[in-house]
Amino acid sequence: MTYQAEIRVWRGDMTGGGFATYQVEADEGEVVLDLVHRLQATQAPDLAVRWNCKAGKCGSCSAEINGRPRLLCMTRMSALPPGEPVTITPLRAFPVIRDLVTDVSFNYTKAREIPSFAAPQGLAPGEYRMSQEDVNRSQEFRKCIECYLCQDTCHVVRDHEENKSAFAGPRYLMRIAELDMHPLDTADRQKAAQEVHGLGYCNITKCCTDVCPEGIRITDNALIPLKERVADRKYDPLVWLGSKITRR
Ligand code: SF4
Ligand code: F3S
Ligand code: FES
Repeated sequence: MTYQAEIRVWRGDMTGGGFATYQVEADEGEVVLDLVHRLQATQAPDLAVRWNCKAGKCGSCSAEINGRPRLLCMTRMSALPPGEPVTITPLRAFPVIRDLVTDVSFNYTKAREIPSFAAPQGLAPGEYRMSQEDVNRSQEFRKCIECYLCQDTCHVVRDHEENKSAFAGPRYLMRIAELDMHPLDTADRQKAAQEVHGLGYCNITKCCTDVCPEGIRITDNALIPLKERVADRKYDPLVWLGSKITRR
């Protein structure tokens, strides 16, 4: 069944902008990105939007739909309130470049600030051994498609630009947690998690987990365990030392 959908799209650039309203043909089963593409093809050829896979795997098409951070390619029109306009805005936590495209380089900066996996000395790559439980934990975190929806929604930076320098955001605190819980990683990550990457700013609101399109349990499986490990070390440094010796 074909119908006319009203979509309100934020148009503008870093100097300012506003909403433009369009009537766009929609077909049953379509996702919001289909309508954005049809809008580009028929009425707004200069509309800027970032996308790539249209399959929820590249993490490029992140935007806000009716105020909620979502992937444009994975949000079905049928999941939105019928008969009401659909509002599409760029990610709020990052600077707009043009229309729906934002500058997400904040995330690349934060990624570079985290030292990579530090392998144990004297162990050749083929000699690494891990239990399946440890592999499963890492694999959950590695489902991340770098869409930055969690980074966009976390209130610590969403409404507080001034916090950005001191807070890595859920995606990168999750990366630290992954490495800290990795049985073969030898780096000391807990002090930096608290003092450099802003773990203490997270007050476990779980909004990051709510918007993750990969269903990663960011808060329960990464951020809370990392907080517990940091607290254990603070109150009992022997726990930290023991964990490094036994690699647990
Ligand atoms: Fe996106 Fe989830 Fe990765 Fe955050 S953790 S960047 S929401 S896939
Ligand atoms: Fe932010 Fe997620 Fe913590 S939304 S406050 S990082 S639980
Ligand atoms: Fe790749 Fe949407 S276009 S995740």
